[in-house]
Order: sequence, then structure tokens, then C-alpha cells
Amino acid sequence: MRQDGLRQEKKGETRCMKRTVKLEASLACANLKNLEEDIRQLERAEIDFFHFDIMDGRFVPNFALDFAVLDAVRELSDTEVVCHLMIEEPERYIDRTATYEPAFISIHAEATPHVQRALRQIRDSGVRPGIALNPATPLSCLSYILDDIELITVMTVNPGFAGQELVPAAIRKLADIRKLIDDAGYSHIELEVDGNVSFQNIPVMVASGATMLVGGTSSVFSRGHTIGEAVAKVRELSGPRTVQ
Ligand code: DX5
Ligand code: ZN
Repeated sequence: MRQDGLRQEKKGETRCMKRTVKLEASLACANLKNLEEDIRQLERAEIDFFHFDIMDGRFVPNFALDFAVLDAVRELSDTEVVCHLMIEEPERYIDRTATYEPAFISIHAEATPHVQRALRQIRDSGVRPGIALNPATPLSCLSYILDDIELITVMTVNPGFAGQELVPAAIRKLADIRKLIDDAGYSHIELEVDGNVSFQNIPVMVASGATMLVGGTSSVFSRGHTIGEAVAKVRELSGPRTVQ
């Protein structure tokens, strides 16, 4: 079992973990009229990752970023990318997505009957695999794939649109997943939260065990702040802390 800087005592003893929460900027929420300017601001703010949503108009009732935009992003920046595939039968596009060498590719548990095979395909393509769960999807789907994943994306809104309100039960679910992976000895798996990651919601998300935050219109690209100011505020709210 990998620990990645986490320290955990045996069951029953006090658990003490130091986590650095990583921040992703959801590029679907950037100013597409001047993407380069937003990318430069994100680089100056030392964003950890670009979060790249790909939507197919079927799995979710919307279309979003595609490979042409990803080509442009790769040309503009070396910042690592996390690709979130919100598409039916993601197997069809895993290999192509992997050619961009993202840090992670996450696919939806609801999007294919062959989840484990698709996760294996991601790993075989040299990328760290992630599983994304819609708000109503139960935890039980994680039980037999813990060896196949390095990231869990907890959707705290129903995917497809920016600017939605948090589904409150998703916070409980986040905490339940944190407990599940810690108890099973898989604390190294990143726990990413996606949807309405607002300044108000960040503290409870981090306290519930999130290790990666997707910042969209609710924070990184919120009105009334520059990107630099917004990132600094997120860092202040989520920064390194000891969780007991
Ligand atoms: C959901 C989207 C949002 C995105 C926008 O499909 O992927 O989660 O990150 O973030 P917010 O919710 O802050 O507008
Ligand atoms: Zn996403």
C-alpha cells in the first residue's frame, strides 16, 4: 500500500494525516474568447492542474470541450491536465485521450457496463485511472475496483452544467467514501470533488476528506475576483492542514 505522505496509525488509534489539497481549474468555465490569458493567470497562480471536461451530449445533456481545445491547451501550457470523460462508452475515446498524457483520466461508473475493463484500458495506456460517481450512484460500485483506480471523482452536482447548486447528500457521500477507502487501506487514492466547489463549500468538502478540488464558476472563475485572488482564497480555505 502506498502512503504518499499520509501517516495513518493502526485501527482504533488516533489518526493523524497531513494533506495538501490540490486545486484544479475547470477550463470549461474559463473565458474561451481569451483562453490564453486565463491560462497565463492560472499559471501565475501556480494552479496544480487544468480540469478538462469532455461531454458528449448523450451521457450528459450538454456538449463541452473537445480534442481541438485540448490541442490548443497543450500548445499553450505544460500544466498537467486531468481529463474527465462525461461520455457514454468511454472505451471509445480512452486511447485518444491518453495521447495527451494527462495526469488522470476519469470515466463515469454509469457510462459503461465494463467499468473494470475500461479502467484497465486507462492504466494500460500509461495514465492513472479515475472513477467518477454521479450524486445518486451508491458507494458499493467502488468495492471491487479499489485496485484499479487512483482517483475517485465525487460529483457534487449532476454533471453537465456549470453554476449549479450542491446536492447536499453528496457531502455525506464524500465522508462515507473517505471512510471506505481509509478503512480498506487505500488512503493513497485521490478524492476529487467536482461541482459547486464554492468558497462557502470548500471547508466542509476538505473536512469530509477531499484531496482535489475542481474550481469552476463558484470559485476560481467567480465574478468579482481576479483568477489569482480566487486561487489564493481557495488555498487559504483548503491549505495544508492536519486532519485528526
Ligand atoms: C459539471 C461541471 C462543473 C464544473 C463547474 O458538469 O464539470 O462541475 O466544474 O463548476 P461550478 O459548479 O463551480 O460552476
Ligand atoms: Zn469535471
